[in-house]
Amino acid sequence: MKTLDPVTPEMLAQGDEPMSNYSDNRHFADIIQTRYSRRTLLKGSLGAAAIGFLGAGVAGCGGSSSSSGGAAGPRIGFAPVPVSDQDTFVVPEGYTAEAILQWGEPITGTMPAYDLINSGEEQGMQVGSHHDGMHFFPIEGEDPWTGSSEDGLLVMNHEYVEPRFMHMTAVGLSLDRNGITVLNPDNDRDADEVLKELNAHGVSVARVQKQSDGRWAVVADPRNRRITGLTEMEISGPVRGSDFVKTAFSPEGTRTRGTLNNCAHGVTPWNTYLAAEENWAGYFRNSTATAAERPREQARYGVRHSGQTSRYRWELADEDPAANQQRFARFDVGATGGSALEDYRNETNGFGWMVEIDPFDEHSTPVKRTALGRFAHEGVVFARAVEGIPVVCYSGDDAGNEYIYKFVSAQPYYKATAGGHLLDSGTLYVARFNDDGTGEWLPLVYGLNGLTDANGFTSQADVLVNTRTAADFVGATKMDRPEWGAVDPVDGSVYFTLTNNSGRGSSSDVDNANPRGPNPFGHIIRWKEGNDLPTSLNFDWDLFVLAGDQDDSEDLAGNKLTDDNIFCSPDGLWFDHDRRLWIQTDISESVMNSGIFEVFGNNAMLAANPVSGEIRRFLTGPLGQEITGVVTTPDGKTMFINVQHPGATTSAADFAAGNINSRWPDYDNNTYPRSATVVITKDDGGVVGT
Ligand code: FEO
Ligand code: CA
Ligand code: CA
Ligand code: CA
Repeated sequence: MKTLDPVTPEMLAQGDEPMSNYSDNRHFADIIQTRYSRRTLLKGSLGAAAIGFLGAGVAGCGGSSSSSGGAAGPRIGFAPVPVSDQDTFVVPEGYTAEAILQWGEPITGTMPAYDLINSGEEQGMQVGSHHDGMHFFPIEGEDPWTGSSEDGLLVMNHEYVEPRFMHMTAVGLSLDRNGITVLNPDNDRDADEVLKELNAHGVSVARVQKQSDGRWAVVADPRNRRITGLTEMEISGPVRGSDFVKTAFSPEGTRTRGTLNNCAHGVTPWNTYLAAEENWAGYFRNSTATAAERPREQARYGVRHSGQTSRYRWELADEDPAANQQRFARFDVGATGGSALEDYRNETNGFGWMVEIDPFDEHSTPVKRTALGRFAHEGVVFARAVEGIPVVCYSGDDAGNEYIYKFVSAQPYYKATAGGHLLDSGTLYVARFNDDGTGEWLPLVYGLNGLTDANGFTSQADVLVNTRTAADFVGATKMDRPEWGAVDPVDGSVYFTLTNNSGRGSSSDVDNANPRGPNPFGHIIRWKEGNDLPTSLNFDWDLFVLAGDQDDSEDLAGNKLTDDNIFCSPDGLWFDHDRRLWIQTDISESVMNSGIFEVFGNNAMLAANPVSGEIRRFLTGPLGQEITGVVTTPDGKTMFINVQHPGATTSAADFAAGNINSRWPDYDNNTYPRSATVVITKDDGGVVGT
């Protein structure tokens, strides 16, 4: 492995996931002679050969309503909305949208009202910031997809924060979206500001009810809860108790504190929520190691070294390090003590996992499920659970040239006994996409495929803590930043967004699964497991759509996208109950509304028919934001989506002058823009999207 250090503050200042895969694991096109040109593959797989892909038989998943449309696919009945560069939220004619659950809305404790002067403790009783993945759990608490469509627990992730919008001390300063206030003479950070930022991270659980006037509101409930960057959590699975996770806080290596950068999510068949830990690495700094000196479990993930600063510099909080078990100082993961039991050199090994939360038990301790691997988890999606068959789920590692993974539980699923223990033992696989449209799942198991002591792997805990390195070793295919996955409720196909990849070179660096180098616009890949069994070790794949503008794009029918559906940087992805595929975009704040990205306007959401490939733009969001998080009530008549970081494209100079470019959703010039959930309904009371 080269010792190049890819992570610079400038890179994260762009809000993008840093590339840290400098392994010599080659792109697949370098290994296998390309059988098809990109054009041939697309024509073949998106055209005639798609019959083979789709004709492989219906997996018998059932559960979809009649409007899944059989051979024609689901109905998409709305008129597409145009691209927008305005500070507005636009839905099709005949639909209504209303923002709820804004960042700072109180949901628990003493219910402190939102105000810029809120303390760190108060933020811990309010909805967090930067809303992301989300699920509506019907209030009956029995099944994640059936039950009430008017009453439930809305559970959502809060990916990160924009400190300039959080603190009085930032007013008037020249700060961009990544800027932080470091005001103390000692160059420390104010401890309460750090607490506020940690408490704005994590997960919110909020009971929401449809009111008599048809609008939705948060209601009091003992289960309303905030999980934050400080909440105590259990570590389970093969890494639990290993030396990798022993710290001064948990000498036995069984616990850690907090979950960070929770991007997308997952919903287990047993009605719990999984929060993904995505870009956690940049929150930590190893003060005692140069780039080359960092252990691989830090270096391969881009944990900052002694020559860099951490993202928010929480480790510099002005608090006695002896207090509160170093709740802030632990973000320095250097070897500052005499041993791992006296410092936090292993703290980052407690991050990069999927975190299971039971929203129906407010006393439950979140659990980090280590068997699912450690990387920049975007989210996780489960294949439909089948009685007597192992549980299968898929997760992407969102960074340039990283991989797509699948977990297969060791124990079979039985509804009567299913629970989180199913995620503690099983096999983690990584995907190899062959150029001929086939693919394989490569097991990441200690002792197999060269993951042996001779090659530096000493245990399954080691393989899991170093999931990326293990995947490099077995020859996984480097992908264009895997984001969300979605499973077709009718035929069981798995779809993944590949958002873009500026780090993929041209010509020799491309392969048929990632055919553009560089890839500024992204694409959506899909596959069908061998014999329609989610547990298969092989699959057939094709490309569902190459995103892009009217000149550089290709839909399933082989046509270019049009004014009605051009999009780029697909991120959120979800199949509704009728089999509509919802696609959400996340064009980076560093490029949106400019250059080759100007034509796409603000981030948006589209709906697609997985059979015909038809795509229509359903909504556009305000300035500076991304659209993310999508779910409907079981009846499909209420949709919840999230708007994250409105106004993030406000320049430092404009911020200093008080000229914020978005005032969504309040349009009050005295309040900052705030992330919020949007409730979308059809005015005729019908199913959203029909
Ligand atoms: Fe947090 Fe990969 O989007
Ligand atoms: Ca995302
Ligand atoms: Ca983003
Ligand atoms: Ca993204």
